[in-house]
Amino acid sequence: MAKEKILVTGGAGYIGSHTVVELVEAGYEPVIVDNFSNSEERVLDGIAAILGRSVPCHRIDCNDAAALRSVFEQEQDIVGVIHFAAYKAVGESVEQPLKYYHNNVGSLVTLLQVMEEQKVHNLVFSSSCTVYGIPETLPVTEQTPVQKANSPYGNTKKICEEILVDLASSGNSGIKSIALRYFNPIGAHPSAKIGELPLGVPSNLVPFITQTAAGIREQLTIFGNDYDTPDGTNVRDYVHVVDLAKAHVTAVARMLQGKVQDIEFFNVGTGRGNTVLEAVHAFENATGVKLNYKIGPRRAGDVPKIYADVTKATEELGFKTTSTLEEAMKSAWDWQLSLQKDK
Ligand code: NAD
Ligand code: WQD
Repeated sequence: MAKEKILVTGGAGYIGSHTVVELVEAGYEPVIVDNFSNSEERVLDGIAAILGRSVPCHRIDCNDAAALRSVFEQEQDIVGVIHFAAYKAVGESVEQPLKYYHNNVGSLVTLLQVMEEQKVHNLVFSSSCTVYGIPETLPVTEQTPVQKANSPYGNTKKICEEILVDLASSGNSGIKSIALRYFNPIGAHPSAKIGELPLGVPSNLVPFITQTAAGIREQLTIFGNDYDTPDGTNVRDYVHVVDLAKAHVTAVARMLQGKVQDIEFFNVGTGRGNTVLEAVHAFENATGVKLNYKIGPRRAGDVPKIYADVTKATEELGFKTTSTLEEAMKSAWDWQLSLQKDK
């Protein structure tokens, strides 16, 4: 039987590349679409090295309807799409909101139009816990109210979810979707052949930790230790990227089994909250490397604490956390070391 073909936009990116590997290992045939605006072609070599074969990739922009259409036509029988392609730098989105609305909202609308034309009706969308803003109760469930976003980036995720809801309730398009609300993805593939490749100075915690440990950055600044949390630093739910990638595979399977009526939302985290200091210590324990860090002022816009209730994903997607925070940190460090070796 022919393998089911899944279009993966942003498939050369951090989460996309890990998902492509898991899709192949689960017996699907992914096809990557990426414009490499935030990734490098060598990611494709990493994917090929893990799988022992290359995965097709079309270098196109998801805002280009004609180019997308031609990918659907060339590839034929695509049965579903996972849409990762987006910009994700929160700070930059505050500086350049239109860049974010154009790319994140525009590319989704273009993709949906082409999917409608091509009669491809299954979409898995990358959403984010950012839609919950500063939640009043923890852990957050999928029923926790979505709040006004605290950045244009966050707002693009909220708007994209609303577009998918409107589409599902219109009843005309036939497109059904699953929006996965990721918490904080960290870590890398156990092979250390793919991982997070931040361009420039990382704004996310874990790449900043690994680059500091590697001597690329001098010191990590922890943004505030006067929050109402066990040690005063922010609480987050750090989920291993391979566990997150697997959630996409089960979401695709659920869609293809016809189990999704219109739109479904799932939190994808671990269900555990860890402080920034706990994350730093987990890194040190897992790697034996002492980290140079200091406590600095709060970062504007930070959510004091958030972590997921993952009951729904566990029960309906069969989602499992297989990695501890230490294991995730160790994999991020192995990946950092492999990047150093390449130099
Ligand atoms: P990433 O930047 O590593 O990957 C995104 C990929 O999409 C990149 O390879 C980039 O080149 C590509 N891309 C961007 N715009 C494109 C376009 N118009 N056409 C074609 N390709 C395009 O990011 P990631 O961390 O893998 O995130 C993937 C998705 O998950 C994004 O939608 C992001 O907003 C969402 N998300 C990420 C996080 C996180 O912390 N990493 C958390 C929640 C949600
Ligand atoms: C984690 C914790 C920082 C860097 C962002 C987006 C969110 C989502 C995930 C996409 C925080 C602290 C960080 C540093 C630090 N992305 N920190 N020093 O802020 O939870 O979420 O990425 O949807 O939308 O906002 O992730 O990795 O930036 O920070 O102390 O140098 O680490 O204050 O508590 P965040 P992060």
